[in-house]
Amino acid sequence: MGLALPPLPKSHYRCFAAGVALLVPTHFMHTILAKKQLSPNVTRLDLLAPRIAEIKQPGQFVMVRACEGAERIPLTIADSDPIQGTIALVIQAVGKATRELVALEVCDAIRDVSGPLGHPTELISSGRALCIGGGVGTAVVHPIAKALHARGVHVTSVIGGRSKEWVIFEEELRKCGDVIVCTDDGSYGRKGFVTDAAKDVLEAGGIDIVYVVGPVPMMRACANLTRPFNIHTIVSLNPVMIDGTGMCGGCRVAVGGETKFACVDGPEFDGHKVDFDLLADRLQTYREFEQRANACADGKCNIRR
Ligand code: NAD
Ligand code: FES
Repeated sequence: MGLALPPLPKSHYRCFAAGVALLVPTHFMHTILAKKQLSPNVTRLDLLAPRIAEIKQPGQFVMVRACEGAERIPLTIADSDPIQGTIALVIQAVGKATRELVALEVCDAIRDVSGPLGHPTELISSGRALCIGGGVGTAVVHPIAKALHARGVHVTSVIGGRSKEWVIFEEELRKCGDVIVCTDDGSYGRKGFVTDAAKDVLEAGGIDIVYVVGPVPMMRACANLTRPFNIHTIVSLNPVMIDGTGMCGGCRVAVGGETKFACVDGPEFDGHKVDFDLLADRLQTYREFEQRANACADGKCNIRR
């Protein structure tokens, strides 16, 4: 029979990082330990989240709220260190909520981080995988490539950015296998979209599975590229999420003619079955609200939150 642990005071939580039970004061929870600018509008935050770091699997995400009253946003866990009890979140500052998050500094704490949520990535255990990351989506591809590499799968990553300064996670992915870097303007690596380089890798043969994360047009183009090769292609969808628990229906997507909720049924799906037109349409629906929220945050309008 296991030992019953004593009840905790409310001021502490129990952390089992590295197999050792530690008592951590609650006010340290989700404290930012490191902050790094990865590209002109992409920031990496490493924060204390020992319980999530211990159990998270590739492909899973967290719902994050920067402060009381802030919007909740989904962020895929780009990396984790169960020994240090940290997770890495990579944030593209495009709206009010993401700008609030990247404004936080080392030693600040994030108000809420709930997870890990979503289904873990379907991983193969041998053979060859092609991982394609576009822009900030490259951070989401990283934990997949890392887990595949740890299983002995041969990983080729094709990653792309608008130009050199927009390429992220190259060094981390080089630790997982071969990397082909592409830039739209040719300022670094191969000139062109990730689909150009991915086509060459596919034509060379031997790829058993493809994982794709990035902007919707890129995921659609990659799914169209792999279809004639008949290679299973997994994409990670990024619809608007509100609760992240399957209750609100905000993250509704269509896959194989069926309605799915990305937060509980995904976020990864068979790219050959995803209705990308519907996803793109639904992402547009909230653009006007986001623009108004941004204008309010900049003090350019009088609409109350
Ligand atoms: P971006 O627009 O700069 O594109 C990044 C790269 O993707 C390009 O360099 C190119 O190689 C490729 N690409 C873009 N459009 C393409 C097309 N039509 N055909 C082929 N390749 C194409 O990317 P960004 O601004 O960093 O990405 C932002 C988008 O990624 C946002 O829309 C965000 O919502 C999405 N995103 C998705 C996820 C996810 O889980 N799916 C995660 C993070 C971000
Ligand atoms: Fe509400 Fe998925 S975010 S159902």
